[in-house]
Amino acid sequence: MKTLVVYYSNSGRTRCVAETIARELSADIEEIEEKRPRPTYRRGNGEKTGGGGIARAAGAAVLGLGSGIKKATHSVADYDMVIVGTPVWAGSVSPAARSYLKQQKKSLPQVAFFCTRKGEATPRIFKQMGALAGKEPIATASVAADDVNSGAYEADVSTLTARLRGEK
Ligand SMILES: Cc1cc2nc3c(=O)[nH]c(=O)nc-3n(C[C@H](O)[C@H](O)[C@H](O)COP(=O)(O)O)c2cc1C
Repeated sequence: MKTLVVYYSNSGRTRCVAETIARELSADIEEIEEKRPRPTYRRGNGEKTGGGGIARAAGAAVLGLGSGIKKATHSVADYDMVIVGTPVWAGSVSPAARSYLKQQKKSLPQVAFFCTRKGEATPRIFKQMGALAGKEPIATASVAADDVNSGAYEADVSTLTARLRGEK
């Protein structure tokens, strides 16, 4: 199955998970890039940088706003499955991932989703992503930021990739 992993990441955790999924599935990978790059927010690991930017970013996410993103380099129509990943921002999908899903909605093949988050798992994020994609995901994974930091996230990734291979 030809698979593409697409992700937005601000401080690197969602990228780390995306790269591991892509490696396990021998998938292609694409980063969603914003036209106006943001500072790196560190809220996930306790350091607070970015000042009011974090509040604005969270506000945009919770209001359901998108952001200007660069043109995608891979055509989703060339794939059998697209796996989309985002950090959780204010309990919601990030603006960049929102914009990507909206842009690609018409051409998406079957989809799977993952997110990284600092707090409790928020199943509603996958409902949001499914609504934006216009289809239900065949599998999802919600990965704790602390598990990305410690390496424990690989178990979540293995569960997701096994499900996608039809093993579980
Ligand atoms: C603006 C902002 C809002 C966030 N809101 C939430 C939240 O509502 N719930 C949560 O669990 N984590 C929240 N986080 C933490 C991130 O989801 C978490 O650190 C994630 O792993 C970051 O992914 P990244 O390193 O790929 O950017 C927030 C982080 C930022 C910067």
